[in-house]
Amino acid sequence: MRHLLDTQTLARTDALRILDVAEDMADTQRREVKKLPTLRGKTVVNLFFEDSTRTRISFEAAAKRLSADVINFSAKGSSVSKGESLQDTAQTLQAMGADAVVIRHGASGAPRTLATSGWISAGVVNAGDGTHEHPTQALLDAFTIRKRRFGDDSRGRDLAGVKVTIVGDVLHSRVARSNVWLLTTLGAQVTLVAPPTLVPQDMSGWPVQVRYDLDEAIAAGPDALMMLRIQLERMNAAYFPTEREYSRRWGLDARRLQALGADSIVMHPGPMNRGLEISAEAADSPRSTVLEQVANGVSVRMAALYLLLAGAEHGAGETTPATDAPVTGGEEKENTR
Ligand code: NCD
Repeated sequence: MRHLLDTQTLARTDALRILDVAEDMADTQRREVKKLPTLRGKTVVNLFFEDSTRTRISFEAAAKRLSADVINFSAKGSSVSKGESLQDTAQTLQAMGADAVVIRHGASGAPRTLATSGWISAGVVNAGDGTHEHPTQALLDAFTIRKRRFGDDSRGRDLAGVKVTIVGDVLHSRVARSNVWLLTTLGAQVTLVAPPTLVPQDMSGWPVQVRYDLDEAIAAGPDALMMLRIQLERMNAAYFPTEREYSRRWGLDARRLQALGADSIVMHPGPMNRGLEISAEAADSPRSTVLEQVANGVSVRMAALYLLLAGAEHGAGETTPATDAPVTGGEEKENTR
């Protein structure tokens, strides 16, 4: 794998490989010493042109736990705010020897431009581009669903027959798009629920069912209910009458949480608008996987960085990372426990 740009073109075998390597990474994250020597000497640049808390920190933690050097570059306060182009920024990173660039950008397609421009030789990971895609979020969501369903027996399994219902601001959501492609690639059945104004106009080719009534969708018995954040910052018009009306019709409140099957899980990519798309009862309930998603995000991003940066050197067919030798303080040590 050279880059991770989207899930729409991600092959099933590559997706499963990332999830399985993430399982190995998750195992190492239960140890007291979480750091592995795998990417020592490699440099990962976090290039964030849009605000982010958890995704940036998650990539930073993932790279550091693999012993890569991490450079955080955010557009605010950088030369980008003085008008420097993506090309100049990229070429600067190339000159500094970046091996991987994790990019978040407001423009859909910016990661692909970076990957195919010839400006850099680094591997490119899309950490969210406009309303287009957010592949590592979908991968961590799929990982979370698989883990809840199969536990320690998750490796090698897909999501055949799993029913996932994604609710809310689909129109502006790169998380929804990446999940639609990945989950269906893995065999899940995806239903989207949204107000008509927050459904994209052209959904031809989307392998999903669309519903407008959340209560009906819950009655259909989904295995996972994924609530999306209302992206007020991307709304330049009124897509629903009032926030109160939105949460009454499309919010996951205590009553709807009750109506959900006992085994179904509640997901949210964060950050949550508590009281708008999700109530505190739902967000904090035992069936909420919100914090598991955050923890799994580190393992999935470790897997992605590993496969991009070390996978090739370990031979094409080999997927198991050298996770047996933790390091402390940058020095490799034998694990004597
Ligand atoms: C998502 C994003 O930025 O696309 N959040 C995230 O990555 N944790 C979803 C969102 O902002 O609503």
